[in-house]
Amino acid sequence: MSVWALLVAAGAGERLGEERPKAFVRLGDLPLLAEPLRRLDESGWVDAVVVAAPPGWEEPAILLAEELSATKVVASVTGGATRAESVRAALAEVPEDALVALVHDAARPLVSDEVVERVLAPLAEGWDGVVPGLPLADTVKRVEGDTVVGTVDRAGLVAAQTPQAFLLPTLRAAYAGDLDGATDCSSLVEARGGRVKVVAGDPRLVKVTTQADLELVASWL
Ligand code: C5P
Repeated sequence: MSVWALLVAAGAGERLGEERPKAFVRLGDLPLLAEPLRRLDESGWVDAVVVAAPPGWEEPAILLAEELSATKVVASVTGGATRAESVRAALAEVPEDALVALVHDAARPLVSDEVVERVLAPLAEGWDGVVPGLPLADTVKRVEGDTVVGTVDRAGLVAAQTPQAFLLPTLRAAYAGDLDGATDCSSLVEARGGRVKVVAGDPRLVKVTTQADLELVASWL
């Protein structure tokens, strides 16, 4: 099967408090984007990579791929105003005969081959999509302003991570419609009745949002 990785990296990352977009803040000696880009490029499961870059950063993303000798990177497209729009832009680069899309947040740099394999395998068993999920450690409250109005039973809940894997016709159909409010790809596939499996996530797939997250990921590297 041909697997296309869509690496969405077009977020501004305002909560990091840096001038450059999140994908280009330093993680060690290189931009943050280098880590997931290199890992996906080196993965034996991945055939091609499309990057959705922040507007104006398309060329730096390609130059970074060249610097890393990431030869599977076939395109760097301009990301959209939302994550879903960035995924849609990357999806437009994927050829019709490709079978599987692996959509990954660049903000989760420590993607491993183990989790890639875990999300790809169930697609051969008839699932439309597969997401990595982690059980919630904290008690979850429903709130209105500063008032707690309820406690949610966390037994049936997981936090969904990326990479998320989908059969391409399913993902294309999901992205042909309304993207409003979609914070991940799976939610759009679910909304169209797609069968999505959850597999074990990985605590190291933390999404870099704050400087503390960046320091944590740097320490794990
Ligand atoms: O903003 P959020 O935390 O949901 O971002 C998740 C991922 O989506 C990040 O890797 C970010 O770069 C990407 N993103 C994007 N285009 C946007 C917003 C977020 O590619 N407009």
